[in-house]
Amino acid sequence: MTHRAAPSTDPSCWLPFTANRDFLSKPRLLSHAKGMYYQTPDGRPILDATAGLWCVNAGHCRTEIVEAISRQAGEMDFAPTFQMGHPLVFQLAQRLIQKMPASLNHVFFTNSGSESADTALKIARAYHYGRGEPQRSLFVGREKAYHGVGFGGLSVGGLPRNKAAFGPLLQNELLPHTLDQEHHRFTRGMPAWGEDPAEALNQIVQKHGAERIAAVIVEPVAGSAGVIVPPKNYLQQLRKACDQNGLLLIFDEVITGFGRLGTPFAANFFDVTPDILTTAKGLTNAAVPMGAVFVSDSIYQSFMNNTEEGIEFFHGYTYSGHPLACAAALATLELHEKEGLLTRGSELAPYFEDALHSLKELPLVTDIRNVGMMGAIELQSQPEHIGARGMAALQKAFDLGLLIRTTGDTIALSPPLIISKEEINMTVKIIRETILSL
Ligand SMILES: Cc1ncc(COP(=O)(O)O)c(C=O)c1O
Repeated sequence: MTHRAAPSTDPSCWLPFTANRDFLSKPRLLSHAKGMYYQTPDGRPILDATAGLWCVNAGHCRTEIVEAISRQAGEMDFAPTFQMGHPLVFQLAQRLIQKMPASLNHVFFTNSGSESADTALKIARAYHYGRGEPQRSLFVGREKAYHGVGFGGLSVGGLPRNKAAFGPLLQNELLPHTLDQEHHRFTRGMPAWGEDPAEALNQIVQKHGAERIAAVIVEPVAGSAGVIVPPKNYLQQLRKACDQNGLLLIFDEVITGFGRLGTPFAANFFDVTPDILTTAKGLTNAAVPMGAVFVSDSIYQSFMNNTEEGIEFFHGYTYSGHPLACAAALATLELHEKEGLLTRGSELAPYFEDALHSLKELPLVTDIRNVGMMGAIELQSQPEHIGARGMAALQKAFDLGLLIRTTGDTIALSPPLIISKEEINMTVKIIRETILSL
């Protein structure tokens, strides 16, 4: 890797979800990446324990992906997918649906997880509209959920600080979250005990009437809220309750998709198939932005059959199915297959779990949660400064050569799926040192 002079940072760039003023007083910059490592502009290696932002599942700058993007950029930079198509977008769709539970056999391309969430919600509403039930407009989300930042995803999200400045949003109801620290603290994998979501869903149904509800959307494992693993059978119970009330079920698999849990999708891990499944991030190994929304045959056919002629769904993005993203996704799928990455997590997960839980006795650690290759270490918050300890941990770990993600005072880990046991040990060693320094 070559080093360039450290670039200057200033307020001309407004960073997302960032304390910009604090950042500018001590910028954390990454300039290169390869495999499991980032590098700072001054050449310091940073072990990546977060796959960038839950997305670089196959490791950084994989030659096969780099070459595929570069080849495609020279061959055809862009082609519209409005009333046009190109071979790669069809090839990619065909390859992707082979990975999906059998009933999810149509895919609509977007450019991000937020766009995937909004697209899924619009598909749900338009599906009901097309079937003569336009009054089905209400969405049910869940507390502590993150479905991105579009007005749709934000509406069904359940992180109050994300919503505070942006109301009024779409009408919605939220199911209770499943984090029950009194009963679940330091649980490995899925907690054995939890509320049946059917009861809460039934209350919402009684309040509004099932005939007014478009869909229920959940992350199978809540990621951004700090890796909240659902209790055993929770998703099965939710699926059953949706079926009993005739409601569509949407899984947001933007984080859990593409091998994160040691199975291709969380739908496989939990053995529950939603009607709509959203993805992004790992789809292209994050090398080119892309999202994808998978729908069941019956939903797709309903659009085809309920539109007399012309366009069946008035929705799409200029960059839906962008050729460079398609090339990146196809190369990523090849790598997944060649290296078994969609299931590698299942072999590594027990080791990862033991490593994380070895931090249990450290001061300030109030909970550790994990499933597949996702983990969280919750730190005790300072009463007047929620999130300050998390930020201090992020900074310290970065100084020690490790990239972690913090959400409030919780450290979230989601390493690339190519991680070795030695790198897991290194991750935990640096986190230990980090926590002991706080
Ligand atoms: C579950 C989930 N949905 C949606 C999103 C939004 O994705 P994006 O940032 O690509 O818009 C995220 C991002 O972390 C996510 O975790």
